[in-house]
Amino acid sequence: MSPLQLAARIVERSSPENPADLVLRQTLFRRRSLPPSDAAWVSRAVFSFFRWQRWLADDLPIEARIEDGLRLAARFASRPEEFPEAELVQRCVPDWAAAHLPVGADFAKSLQAEPVLWLRSRPEFTEELFRRLPTLEPGPFADSYRYLGREDLFHDRGFQAGQFEIQDIASQAVGRICAPRPGEVWWDACAGEGGKTLHLSALMGGKSLIWASDRAAWRLDRLRQRAARAKCFNYRAVAWDGSERPPTKTRFDGVLLDAPCSGLGTWGRNPHARWTTSVRDVEELAAIQARLLRHVADSLKPGGRLIYAVCTLSHAETTAVADAFTEERSDFDTLAVVNPFQPDDPPVTQMHLWPQDTGGNGMFVAAWRRL
Ligand SMILES: C[S@@+](CC[C@H](N)C(=O)[O-])C[C@H]1O[C@@H](n2cnc3c(N)ncnc32)[C@H](O)[C@@H]1O
Repeated sequence: MSPLQLAARIVERSSPENPADLVLRQTLFRRRSLPPSDAAWVSRAVFSFFRWQRWLADDLPIEARIEDGLRLAARFASRPEEFPEAELVQRCVPDWAAAHLPVGADFAKSLQAEPVLWLRSRPEFTEELFRRLPTLEPGPFADSYRYLGREDLFHDRGFQAGQFEIQDIASQAVGRICAPRPGEVWWDACAGEGGKTLHLSALMGGKSLIWASDRAAWRLDRLRQRAARAKCFNYRAVAWDGSERPPTKTRFDGVLLDAPCSGLGTWGRNPHARWTTSVRDVEELAAIQARLLRHVADSLKPGGRLIYAVCTLSHAETTAVADAFTEERSDFDTLAVVNPFQPDDPPVTQMHLWPQDTGGNGMFVAAWRRL
């Protein structure tokens, strides 16, 4: 089967129940003997198809549409001025989205561009990393890098040895906003596969303790594997289903709630989700976020910091959730935090990190201190 036929098969099998990124990962895993350049081509072809879907003619065979998607992606990369802004705004997201977040020309352009791969390195390995990966560029933070090459870094020996993590730049900003100090005890309540747990641990210099919980046991298994690779040992992984019973009676210096969300901020990296996410997801997830915030809040010590983060940008899941919590909890004060991308700007209590400004996923962060 040619790479084009393989890409077409992945597109055909993708559905709301079988997201394209998962189908792609599973297919490429089954065909591990495929040359890495072919595998990279298939990924690019599948993502370009969904990124440019609304520009593609429905009556063409899938293979032809995939080729058109790749042509559009290449043209946009080299001559973006040929794409009228109004058309980009109108076609880059589903119609319902405009009522839930501001879709302007810069946002649309950021969604149509090929996403950047961001790394976070352990400082002692930076030199070696630059030697081995010549297409690395320094990012906005001291330990952050933009990778411009096309190698599959999951197979890189430095990655396998825990010298660096692959982590979106907006997610790196969340860790910096938490700014955990050595000696503090933190709870990463929706730790998932541990992206932010590992960062919190690194920021604490591997000292003191992070409780990392999630309701998905398989995600915590992945977290344990990643932590072992990163040589991160100051964490305790525990199951927590989001109920009002926290996983421990410990009172924390800091809690990060990186809540489940509609993921509108990841539509650049994961374009298939644009066409499978619905208004109902936004509404249901906003209710879950409000509930989880309420449930983690009592686990903070007086003076402890609560950081709410979501990789989405809908009003319902961002400002509305944060404002409702501020209104409801008189035992919490809003906490002004510095935007790591704009360290000279005045601190704010709620922050949107727009993909067009950061080159990463879209994120929203709000912070409070327990009185
Ligand atoms: C945005 S992801 C977390 C990503 C992770 N913090 C990272 O940086 O890699 C949200 C996580 O919330 C978990 N989750 C969803 N519903 C939950 C619930 N009711 N209680 C606890 N965790 C939940 C999901 O399993 C998912 O791992």
